[in-house]
Amino acid sequence: MRKTSLSSTNRSFSTTAEEDTRVDNFFIVISRRRSIRKYKDIEIPDEHIIQMLEAARLAPSTNNTQPWQYIVVKDPDTIQLLSFVAGKQKFIADAKVVIIALANKATSCCPGNPSMWYVQDTMIATEHLVLAATALGYGSCWVAMLDSRNSQNIVAVKNALRIPESADIVALVTLGVPDEVPSLRSTKALNELAFSEAYGISFN
Ligand SMILES: Cc1cc2nc3c(=O)[nH]c(=O)nc-3n(C[C@H](O)[C@H](O)[C@H](O)COP(=O)(O)O)c2cc1C
Repeated sequence: MRKTSLSSTNRSFSTTAEEDTRVDNFFIVISRRRSIRKYKDIEIPDEHIIQMLEAARLAPSTNNTQPWQYIVVKDPDTIQLLSFVAGKQKFIADAKVVIIALANKATSCCPGNPSMWYVQDTMIATEHLVLAATALGYGSCWVAMLDSRNSQNIVAVKNALRIPESADIVALVTLGVPDEVPSLRSTKALNELAFSEAYGISFN
């Protein structure tokens, strides 16, 4: 809701220019975020990576358990391994940085709970990270396709990076300075996905 304060006459709502800019900036970041799979040969400074991780750190979580953990990978050999394990997707190998998102059961509120809250929490935090990357001008791509048909591959990554048994690899996020403008993609209309009071009654 954009109308945040009553005017002195008490007849209408108003917003300050600063609030308007903040809201506009938020939606600019949301709409600019696209999956980017081609990157320029430019390094990402650590202070920007830290800002992305900070955005993840502030995410909401079940019972405030914050079960997410991240491994920042810059080593080309490790990035190559991740590319191979994620279905040999070549663009991953070209990323300057790959961040591995881990959901750690050991820090979750309910180990063994089948509802997978710790995974949901980690996905929310990781989307914070992705949006922070967008705001900083970086391209990213969420990769969930760690080849689950070949669990040996996942074990190989976990062993190579000393990832504890309790931590699930939830996603990889590739990062780099964009070297492509993705084509328009189709998005569903609001009336296909937002309902009023009961299923199927369009909200808008
Ligand atoms: C959970 C998840 C898994 C994804 N896995 C991959 C992947 O393995 N490889 C890939 O190139 N893109 C992957 N993507 C990116 C999607 O293809 C992309 O988000 C979708 O096509 C919409 O395009 P956009 O991100 O540019 O809006 C994934 C996205 C999500 C949310």
